Amino acid sequence: MAGKRKKILVTGGAGFIGSHLIKLWLKTNPSVEIVNLDSLTYCGDPSRLEDLRRHERYQFIKGNICDPDIVKDTMRGCAGVVHLAAESHVDRSLLDGKVFFQTNTCGTYVLLEEARRTGVERFLFVSTDEVYGSRPKGFFKETDALHPTSPYSVSKTAADLLALSYAHTYGLNAVVTRGGNTFGPYQYPEKVVPLFVSNALSNKRLPLYGDGLQVRNWVHVEDHAHAIITCFEKGKKGEAYNVASDDYVTNVDLTHQILKILGKPASLIQKVTDRPGHDRRYAMNASKIKKLGWRPKRKFAAALRETVLWYRDNRIWWERIKDKTADFKNYYAKQYARSV
Ligand SMILES: NC(=O)c1ccc[n+]([C@@H]2O[C@H](COP(=O)([O-])OP(=O)(O)OC[C@H]3O[C@@H](n4cnc5c(N)ncnc54)[C@H](O)[C@@H]3O)[C@@H](O)[C@H]2O)c1
Repeated sequence: MAGKRKKILVTGGAGFIGSHLIKLWLKTNPSVEIVNLDSLTYCGDPSRLEDLRRHERYQFIKGNICDPDIVKDTMRGCAGVVHLAAESHVDRSLLDGKVFFQTNTCGTYVLLEEARRTGVERFLFVSTDEVYGSRPKGFFKETDALHPTSPYSVSKTAADLLALSYAHTYGLNAVVTRGGNTFGPYQYPEKVVPLFVSNALSNKRLPLYGDGLQVRNWVHVEDHAHAIITCFEKGKKGEAYNVASDDYVTNVDLTHQILKILGKPASLIQKVTDRPGHDRRYAMNASKIKKLGWRPKRKFAAALRETVLWYRDNRIWWERIKDKTADFKNYYAKQYARSV
């Protein structure tokens, strides 16, 4: 991608991972120009990209990826597409899955169709480790069968396989990244790390699902963004790449680590009924992406500490939006997550 300027369409760039990706890419590659297409749903927030408002290689367009006319206009002149726009919260998908299939599945179809029509040089779909489902032992490889278990992960799996099918069937230069649980600054405070940190800072209870022994792989957002760029530049057409660190942590351990960093008591933990269908363990083998030269640079304990302290020092960002999550959390608690 060096040399002549290339315009890249990033979808969902006002979200958590997308905003970090855009900032990293513009900083590290002077030949990249970015158009960010985002409809600004409840979790989209352009203030994450405030620093770029006057950046000469950055443009923001408010629009829905499900709208073929907007997608056609926005993709015009783009050499590549990195597609992150999604409904991303599993709990919400349990209450109402419809918008998940509209955005995550049908929206991806609209983008792929336009990419095929215009003949973009590269299309990268940002998928998730949740497509594999749970695994008691061992690590999933990219060639393993997919067994998604929630409306969210099924909507992502359909899109993941659709992107790969466009490489196989139409020759589109498509690749897929399957990322682990991502954490870092500017994550919407309904996700576990910012939810627990912000609750603890306000001396509110931390609702821990079931026995808390669910295992997750944790990837820092800058490592995830770097992995996406690596696969965009070097990934092989029609292939998927797992994006995983070496850090596997149970939810209960994560909760204790957060409380310890903040000097808050374990009595803030409130056990609630487990999420219906909660996958027990996600685990992926990352040797394929390592062959492209990617390695996670962040060590979990230090990166978690830095992240927790960022939320402590940037209350102004999350306090403004935290209230918006309250209605959903209360409603969800009535449906599923009662105290036990
Ligand atoms: N956060 C994680 O732990 C994680 C892990 C692996 C993969 N992923 C995937 O990475 C991507 C980004 O995740 P995130 O955590 O940054 O999500 P996020 O919820 O923070 O951001 C999603 C963005 O997409 C936008 N969006 C939603 N629907 C849209 C539509 N119809 N048209 C245009 N824009 C729309 C939102 O406004 C928001 O800015 C998602 O595809 C997600 O499935 C996330």
